Amino acid sequence: MSHKIAPSILAADFLNLSKDVQMVNDSQADWFHLDIMDGLFVPNISFGMPVVGAIAKEAKKTLDVHLMIQQPDRYVQVYADLGADYYTYHIEAENHGHRIIQSIHNSGMKAGVALNPHTSISSIEEIIQDLDLVCVMSVNPGFGGQNFIENTYEKVSRLKELILRKNSSALIEIDGGVNLENYKKLLNHGADVLVAGSSVFKSDNPTKTISELKN
Ligand code: DX5
Ligand code: ZN
Repeated sequence: MSHKIAPSILAADFLNLSKDVQMVNDSQADWFHLDIMDGLFVPNISFGMPVVGAIAKEAKKTLDVHLMIQQPDRYVQVYADLGADYYTYHIEAENHGHRIIQSIHNSGMKAGVALNPHTSISSIEEIIQDLDLVCVMSVNPGFGGQNFIENTYEKVSRLKELILRKNSSALIEIDGGVNLENYKKLLNHGADVLVAGSSVFKSDNPTKTISELKN
């Protein structure tokens, strides 16, 4: 399976969102990555349901929703109804990981879990077989445009080993600071999905950057 590219709309031009959504639709990107922040789990507030609903109407690709919020169990059905395909919650924000995965699946979405840079792979050992995606945060969540954390490569290798050992079909997603310099090394370590915000939207030619990350 070839790897997937998920441009992060957090770095798009919010005054011209429709234009950037069309650019992603017409590009070689596979998914839309949508970052929801509540100002509590992370220091920043991004956007929420009305914006995701508007994007969902125009987006022609998989909607990968990354919830950086406390008590993520509260919004599972809401985002399912808006058209989300992946619902990724943070393991640090949820006391009942097994239950939320069940409710994500019951609502018809794929279940993802995100791990902050300090969170060990061992924290998902008991649920890895139930997950469709593991999002390895390669920056501290909350902001786009941060520097990639180098420990991520080794962490991805350990996650890959766990996935193979437990016969899980979870995809490995890397989120934060992904660019044209580090993407190949990430793929070599086992990454399946690359989220890219600034490196795509702040580049001179976002469509071309997406195709370079893809090929
Ligand atoms: C960070 C978000 C990321 C962010 C990535 O909290 O989860 O998805 O948009 O942005 P870049 O690619 O600029 O690091
Ligand atoms: Zn994200």
